[in-house]
Amino acid sequence: MSEQKLFKVTIDNITAEVEPGTTILQAARKIGGDIVPPAMCYYSTLKDSGGKCRTCLVKVAQGSAADPRPVPKLVASCRTAVMDGMVVENITNQQVLEARDGVVEFLLINHPLDCPVCDQAGECNLQDLSYGHGDDKSRFEFVKRTFEPENIGPHIQLHMNRCIMCYRCTYVADQLTEERLHGVLDRGDRSRISTYISKAIDNDFSGNMIDVCPVGALTDKTFRFKNRVWFTRPMDAHRECSKCAGKVHLWMRGDEVFRVTGRKDQWGEVHDWICNECRYDKKKVSDWVIEGPAKMSRHSVISVNKYYGLKKPKDFLPEVMGGRDPKMLMDIHDVSGVNDPDIDLSAVNGPATSKTFEKKDS
Ligand code: SF4
Ligand code: FES
Repeated sequence: MSEQKLFKVTIDNITAEVEPGTTILQAARKIGGDIVPPAMCYYSTLKDSGGKCRTCLVKVAQGSAADPRPVPKLVASCRTAVMDGMVVENITNQQVLEARDGVVEFLLINHPLDCPVCDQAGECNLQDLSYGHGDDKSRFEFVKRTFEPENIGPHIQLHMNRCIMCYRCTYVADQLTEERLHGVLDRGDRSRISTYISKAIDNDFSGNMIDVCPVGALTDKTFRFKNRVWFTRPMDAHRECSKCAGKVHLWMRGDEVFRVTGRKDQWGEVHDWICNECRYDKKKVSDWVIEGPAKMSRHSVISVNKYYGLKKPKDFLPEVMGGRDPKMLMDIHDVSGVNDPDIDLSAVNGPATSKTFEKKDS
């Protein structure tokens, strides 16, 4: 069999060889580094995703070796296939950077600036993108588009005001769950994700919609308001599961499991989808075989304060004290009801309130 001819593509002056049919975005990911365009709607493991958000726009400065004319308009790199001899400009082209700033400005027009109370903060693609391309003020003078809150089921919280209409969740529903009960209703600035006749999304594998949502529009009801993601410690773990690969990240704090998600790669994308049982019902450490700290390669606040291969310094106190334990001056739990060690916050139904810490016998 004759070997398949590879296409040469140059992106920001770096040349790579890729198979025919590869998109510019995939070719850039193959090269890696800063030249990879951001992607808010493309998701490599969801068929037909991409082409909605325009954050991945690039300039094709030379169409191909056979036809070296530039493409007059910027193109969506997630939807444009590489041609042999193509020359692409991303971060080396001012026009691309300005267009990306404009796309981010448009995405933020209707997106609420509620990061301080949003569960996605710290792992939100739009938040990261805004730091890189957003302005420090808005030019939008009108009232932001808002939607009535809607309950879409027992496990997933929909915050439609935060949705950027990337369609990823509808692809999950189409491609992973048995029947699709939700979709995009209406058109234009009224478009919204909704369930048909308010049916609940409780299909197995529907929880993966939470993982693919690039913003805080779909969040896990069992994790909401329980912890900031940067205070938790993601661990790689697995279990025998008859429905899915059972490979997950456990988001732990101390020895409590606060959240279970699919494992994401360096582009923030899940390859092994997980079932709802693993995601929502297996919240005990004993349910899992823990492999070790997960490596978070995405540039985000979630990758800070994670130490690998940490060696604890020797504790000299018992030696100095001749084997005796130091005397505690005060146990905070004797004087304060908060952070009661007998209460597992991960097991509280919903966010913790002062009622959570009320002593039953007082
Ligand atoms: S809810 Fe999230 S995943 Fe679904 S379209 Fe909106 S932003 Fe995308
Ligand atoms: S990632 Fe290409 S258009 Fe959204």
